[in-house]
Amino acid sequence: MVGLRALRRVASELRCDVAAARNRDPAAKGVSTVEILAAWPGVHALLAHRVAHALHGAGVPVLPRVIAYVSRSATGIEIHPAARVGRAPFIDHGMGVVIGETAEIAENVTMYQGVTLGGTGFATGKRHPTVEANVTIGSGAKLLGPIRIGHGAKIGANAVVIHDVPANSTVVGNPGHPVRVEGRRPEGPDADWVHLPDPIADAIKTLSARIAELEREVGDLRGRERRVEAEIVALRPAQGPNPAGG
Ligand SMILES: CC(C)(COP(=O)(O)OP(=O)(O)OC[C@H]1O[C@@H](n2cnc3c(N)ncnc32)[C@H](O)[C@@H]1OP(=O)(O)O)[C@@H](O)C(=O)NCCC(=O)NCCS
Repeated sequence: MVGLRALRRVASELRCDVAAARNRDPAAKGVSTVEILAAWPGVHALLAHRVAHALHGAGVPVLPRVIAYVSRSATGIEIHPAARVGRAPFIDHGMGVVIGETAEIAENVTMYQGVTLGGTGFATGKRHPTVEANVTIGSGAKLLGPIRIGHGAKIGANAVVIHDVPANSTVVGNPGHPVRVEGRRPEGPDADWVHLPDPIADAIKTLSARIAELEREVGDLRGRERRVEAEIVALRPAQGPNPAGG
């Protein structure tokens, strides 16, 4: 039986969830607690999760999953009843958020719509991310595997993160890579992700230079300079409708 203590805990966590929505959602400034409780899907999903998690912890069968399922249907936010969510999280907008069974989220974490805290495959055991305090996870970001997101880190919208993230860093892109650590650009030979060498372009350039050289030598052997013009073929038939439409 779920005790009074568990219910008190859920009520106090709910107060923190509402405060988090008010503090971190610019649209919630000056909005009453009743309105936030009635119309903020992130708050609904977290409330449902608090109850489902307490029941799951108490060993109640079936019901925690049913609560999670109903909450998902209403909010678009799927949180496994076993996932550990700390105090004052905030899920803005919510739709498309998935938080897996072994995910752990510390206090004051902010997530936007489309965030996945997922596994990378069919592994069992701890297979979802651990997110430390004060982390912000941008919309559409995918955090995959039993990785650790250091406290205060910011994960950019649509990043795909499969490695640990240092504390107080900003990670963007796919694969996710740090573009700021403690407010500074990372330094070192592997830090410039924008200007990485392009081996395919380099190979094409080398081949092109060798072909030009061969053409010059063939021209010399034939005793005349020969310029090879590429044949131009019309893409569009001379008659009939333009396939590009318009
Ligand atoms: C990553 C983010 C948190 C900004 O963090 P920041 O520490 O202030 O970093 P900056 O804005 O200084 O950006 C750092 C670099 O990353 C780049 N960057 C920022 N966000 C990025 C993203 N989502 N994807 C790719 N690159 C991104 C910037 O262009 C900048 O590049 P530079 O080093 O060449 O100048 C923010 O851009 C972001 O994605 N927030 C998510 C917000 C969101 O999901 N809102 C939804 C509301 S509905």
